[in-house]
Amino acid sequence: MRIGIYPGSFDPVTFGHVDIILRSSKMFDLLIIAVLNNNVKKPLFSAEERVELIRQVTKNMRNVSVEAFDGLLIDFVKKKNASTIVRGLRAVSDFEYELQIAQTNHKMSSDIDTVFLTTSLEYSYLSSSIVREIASYNGDISKFVPKEIIPSILAKYNKSLD
Ligand code: COA
Repeated sequence: MRIGIYPGSFDPVTFGHVDIILRSSKMFDLLIIAVLNNNVKKPLFSAEERVELIRQVTKNMRNVSVEAFDGLLIDFVKKKNASTIVRGLRAVSDFEYELQIAQTNHKMSSDIDTVFLTTSLEYSYLSSSIVREIASYNGDISKFVPKEIIPSILAKYNKSLD
């Protein structure tokens, strides 16, 4: 059984992430989305809330599961008997950071590899913080995140769709 791990903060999950989830889920028997819990970024959503939002968005994807993790990613990957980490690359600016993480993880565990998918062009500008900023001003985020999670995002800023 080929198990892939797609880690990230997902605060919140966006169409850019969904694009990577859809495409990478075809590469594995099981894709586990691993939501980082010990986040120094002071997340808007708790890890449990982020897991729940991703579950809503992926409920029709048969071979995708979602879990929170803390500690080292590589330890979570080993615990899940996975061999591959999936990351999305949006622009050249992502590359240096991603290369460093991938090489460090490979050094710590040489039987675990990282594969990179290039984010679809239409989402190459997108980030969770952009979504949070637009939502905080009651802007329209429907082009950036799946519609089922919009009320949860707006509620964080005491806003609603009306
Ligand atoms: N579409 C849209 N946005 C994307 C994206 C995509 N395909 N891929 C990344 N992003 C955005 C995210 O929304 C996020 O935006 P934000 O900064 O505005 O919130 C940003 O890119 C980066 O986020 P993410 O992919 O979640 O990476 P991260 O840096 O928060 O976390 C981990 C990366 C989880 C892989 C890494 O921190 C980790 O492994 N941590 C565990 C501890 C560990 O093992 N450390 C040692 C590693 S060497």
